Order: sequence, then structure tokens, then C-alpha cells
Amino acid sequence: MARETWGTRIGFILAAVGSAVGLGNIWRFPFQVGQEGGAAFMVMYLAFVVLIGFPAMLAEFVVGRKTDLNAVGGIREWAGGAWTYLGGLFVLIGFVILSYYSVVGGWVLRYVVGSVTGGYTATESAAAYFVSIASGTDALLFHAIFMLIVIGIVALGVQQGIELGVKVMVPAIFVIFGILAVYAFGLAGAGEAYAYYLSPDVGYILENWQSLVPAAAGQGFFTLSLGMGVMITYASYLSSDENLALDGVSIVVLNTGVSILTGLIVFPILFSAGVDPATSGAGAIFISVAEALIDLPFGQIVGLLFFLTVAIAALSSAISLIEVVVSYAIDEYGMDRMRATGIIGVAIFLLGVPVTVNTIFVDLYDIFAAQILLVLGGILLMIAITWLHADKAVGELEKGIGDLGSIGSLWIWIVRVPVVLVLLVSLYLGITGYIDFLQGPFAEYLGSL
Ligand code: PFF
Repeated sequence: MARETWGTRIGFILAAVGSAVGLGNIWRFPFQVGQEGGAAFMVMYLAFVVLIGFPAMLAEFVVGRKTDLNAVGGIREWAGGAWTYLGGLFVLIGFVILSYYSVVGGWVLRYVVGSVTGGYTATESAAAYFVSIASGTDALLFHAIFMLIVIGIVALGVQQGIELGVKVMVPAIFVIFGILAVYAFGLAGAGEAYAYYLSPDVGYILENWQSLVPAAAGQGFFTLSLGMGVMITYASYLSSDENLALDGVSIVVLNTGVSILTGLIVFPILFSAGVDPATSGAGAIFISVAEALIDLPFGQIVGLLFFLTVAIAALSSAISLIEVVVSYAIDEYGMDRMRATGIIGVAIFLLGVPVTVNTIFVDLYDIFAAQILLVLGGILLMIAITWLHADKAVGELEKGIGDLGSIGSLWIWIVRVPVVLVLLVSLYLGITGYIDFLQGPFAEYLGSL
């Protein structure tokens, strides 16, 4: 049977943007900015996206299109031997990320319902409302609903499911967020928020680089869906006359645009309501945005639009996470798409159940996945692509672009040395930071049981 392909070129770009744009931009990005000192984080994050994310994305594209295979088969065919285990790491990462991603997606769905019923505007405190839905029965129920929707879309297949889905979702995100950013611009705290968010303090960066670097690396990989083969899988559905560099630029620009736009919505709302953006942690956006919405004109409608858009963005990313695992099962084990999606979906749901018990598990899963697993996957992938088969990589990139000349080797050398070195430093700092988390907040939690 012929392998499925994208119906149109724009279908691939939209799907990749649909994967990139998600809770990473809307839920994770603002609280990373808040925790890491505002504009200082922005600078580091943008540098990571442009200098490391973009070349790394091209590397994944090349493997996918060259091999026409899923992430696991693709990397096996590309590099062979022990590199096959890297494919196993991809599948593991997909499992781990989607398991808690779905819980957070469930919170979002709960807030959509809460916007309609007036749930979070009717309670005395937005924080108490968040706590009441973030763990326990509600969290479990909406985690299940989120996974069911994902399973439903992916079971329908590449063209009918994913491509059609994102064609509606992605433009909707831009329209609704644009409107909300204009709305936020008119708020009293907007000026203060823009200063906090957009004008970096060099002294702060120098003092805090040890936490800024792994945070920016983790966010850079997470937000661009890199380090676990999503972009290998998606590029495998492409034909070879595509200009991969141009596609990559479009995806990076659109994705970064959504993050910046999110900040332009979230921070003015927070500052106007007198909420400190450093109020960190997984609940930050829910608690503070809801808190702000209570007092704002048309708060309930703005809230509904906001959370509905976040839900759409989360679903299109979740689809790509499960697709890595599903396409692996289909290609490698000849499983039928429906069956593969069902079995894998249920397994991921179960892995996410602990996260519905206490929100500290969100950090436990999230820091591990973003700052350790994705960065590790990224390092190994970059080595396999640029150190083992540079010629093959450049040759593949040239298809659809033409002769790259010295730009081709520049790309290879950027990835080979600076990208890999910076990622190694990030990984080291990420691991030490995670150990601190395990010995600190997480040990405290376990002790309190
Ligand atoms: N990029 C997605 C987001 O920002 O929400 C999340 C994600 C999807 C991460 C796919 C990693 C991945 F492979």
C-alpha cells in the first residue's frame, strides 16, 4: 500500500505549526518567563529558537523526507546499529510528554466549561478554583476526555484527521489571539507589562545564566516540537520538491509569533490585576488569568475565547505527540491505525493518572521531559545527522532548494559544534537542576504524605 502523504504543501506547514503551537506557547511559556525573570528569559529563549532550534529542525526534516519513515524506523535507516535505540527514546518521550500534557489539556477543557457556566468567576478566589479542578475527580475526568478527543482525531488518519483539523485550528488561533492582544493593549497595566516582558536586564542574565540556559533550551525544544522525532515523522509525508528551509522559517516564525502574542495578552492582564508574574508553577496562567478576568469588562467572554483557543492549540500538538508512537506501531508492527491509536492512547492515559493526584507531578514529569529527555534526544539526533552522514543530509536539504554551496557546510558545522556543545551544557545544568527539584520540593511532598 502506498504511504499516506499530505494533500497539499500548506497542509504540512499547518500540521507542523499545529504541532509546535500548543500548551508550550500558552501555558508553559508565560510561567517560564515569570520564573526566569521576564525579558531576560525572552532574550535567551529567542537566541535558542533561532540559533539552535531552526538548524535542528532542518536536521529532523532531512531524516524524515530522506527515509520516508516514522521517527524510529527513520533513525534506524539513517544511522543504523545502536542508533536504533534512539528511536526507542523518541517513543518514550512521546509517552511521557503526552501523559501530563493531556492532564493540562484537561484543565483547559475544564476552564472552557467553567467559562460557560461562570465557574471561575463565581468563586471567591481564582486560586481556590484552580486547586479544586487541578487534581482529583475533575482532573481525571477531563484528562480522559482530552485523550478521547485525541484518539478520535488520530484514528481517522493523516489526511482526514490531522490535516483537516489543523487547517481550521491554526488560523483560528491567530485571529482570536490577535483580538485578545488588542484588547489587552487597552488595559491600565499594559505599559508596565511591556517593560517587564520586553526590555532585558543584562546584569540579570549574567547572574542567572545557570538556570536561564537549561530553561531556554528546554522551552526551545518543547515549543518547536524538537528532540523526539515529531518533525521526522511529519516530514516523512512530504515529497522531495519541497523547500525545507523555507518551510522551517515559516514554522519558526509562526510559532514564535504565537508565544510573543501570548505574552502580550497574559502580562498586561496580570499587571492590571496586580498579580506578580513570578507567581510560578503549573497553575500560574489559570489562576492569574482567571483572577484578572473576574474584574475585567466582558471577562467571561474573553475567558471563553481564550480557553477555547488554548484547547484547540493543545489538541493539535497532542495529535503530533501520539502520532510519533502510532506511526511507529503502524510502520514497524503492521498494526492497524485504529487499534494502534486505541491501545497507545489508553496506555498514555494511565501514565498520566498520577499527575491528576497532585500538581507536583506536573513538574516532576515536565522538567524531566523538557530539560532532560528532549535535550538528550536532540543531542543524539544532531550527532547522528551531522557527524555520521553530513553529505547525505546536505544532499537531501538541497532537493527542492538547489545547490547550497558553502551554506550547506555552514549548516552542518553549526549543528556539529556550537549546537551540540550548548546542548550538552544545557543538559548538564538541566540534570543538576532536576536533582535539586527531587531533593527539595519533591522530597518535601513525599515527606508530607
Ligand atoms: N510543541 C508543543 C507545544 O509547544 O505545546 C508540545 C510538543 C509537541 C512538544 C510535540 C514536543 C513534541 F514533540
